[in-house]
Amino acid sequence: MIPAETDYARAVELLRAGELVAFPTETVYGLGADAANPAAVAKIFAAKGRPADHPLIVHVCGHDAVDRWVEQIPALAWELMETFWPGPLTLILKKQAWVPDAVTGGQDTVGLRVPGHPVALALLRRFAASGGGVSGQGGIAAPSANRFGRISPTAAAHVLEELGDRVPLILDGGPCAVGIESTIVDCSRGEPVVLRPGHIAPAHLEAVLGCRPLIETAAGAPRVSGSLAAHYAPQTPMRLISSERLLDFINAQRHKGDTCGVISHNQPPQAGMPHVWRMLPADPTGYAHDLYAALRDMDHAGVSLIAVESLPGSPDWAAVADRLRRAVAGAGQP
Ligand code: TXA
Ligand code: MG
Repeated sequence: MIPAETDYARAVELLRAGELVAFPTETVYGLGADAANPAAVAKIFAAKGRPADHPLIVHVCGHDAVDRWVEQIPALAWELMETFWPGPLTLILKKQAWVPDAVTGGQDTVGLRVPGHPVALALLRRFAASGGGVSGQGGIAAPSANRFGRISPTAAAHVLEELGDRVPLILDGGPCAVGIESTIVDCSRGEPVVLRPGHIAPAHLEAVLGCRPLIETAAGAPRVSGSLAAHYAPQTPMRLISSERLLDFINAQRHKGDTCGVISHNQPPQAGMPHVWRMLPADPTGYAHDLYAALRDMDHAGVSLIAVESLPGSPDWAAVADRLRRAVAGAGQP
């Protein structure tokens, strides 16, 4: 799925005019605007229905661009950039004075990422080459392209469903390879702190940094919207059920006359179950890739409850377990 040159031209024209463009990244689809243009950034918050004090990630096309947004780049940030960019990693760094409050939520730091998706990179390069927006710095601010609190989109069709009437252009780059949002590492406090788990796990960070990063607990977290207890949520109520109890649970639902949707990573315990059953890969990478689309499908299937088989407790499952917990907490809101 490669957008035509005319699509990129239109996207750049819209960004330069202070309008929104949705585009694919390797994690999830983003809802983009010129990061240096507060009026354009305000349209992101309006389209999503997101509280205005939640900071956004600024996407840039390469390491060189980072200097223009931040005070200085600590050595630990350099090492992470060199290893993981372009890729699913966001770094929080002390911002330069000019960076608008609209994008940082009034904080003295800014989140930056060079995404790994070729369409995102092509868009960022073309935007930079066109003059780079009002500041000339070529950053595109983009949260996930969903309504606030809902499931992040991992395909262009999901963006259309979430925001179709609110975004003038959606660049289609096919399904997202990673499927959950980037790992966020705060590099502004002297030692690295993981604010949001993701595909790049603490063990990967440790291998590069030589020390284990701290993991931020929700209580002390700065304004990281993904850290709200309820997030990434379907409209259908959701329950996490252990593998051992899953069969009994769905049988009990059936006796009550309820149709339950089931998301498991093990084989269905018996053939011909009358429920909507979705089996996801039994490895965390494959599971992350399919999770949001599966939740979205369940929302469409008209089931009264989504039962999700609990995940293994090992560290490699931490990022998807985090998303599932928040989805359960936020599920069932109309
Ligand atoms: O994978 C991703 O990160 C996707 C794609 C589109 O790049 N974006 C994404 O954006 O997930 P969003 O807005 O849904 O989540 C970005 C997170 C938010 O939780 C936000 O609060 C946090 O990044 N963030 C941004 N700037 C920050 C800052 N200066 N300090 C602390 N957290 C920050
Ligand atoms: Mg989001």
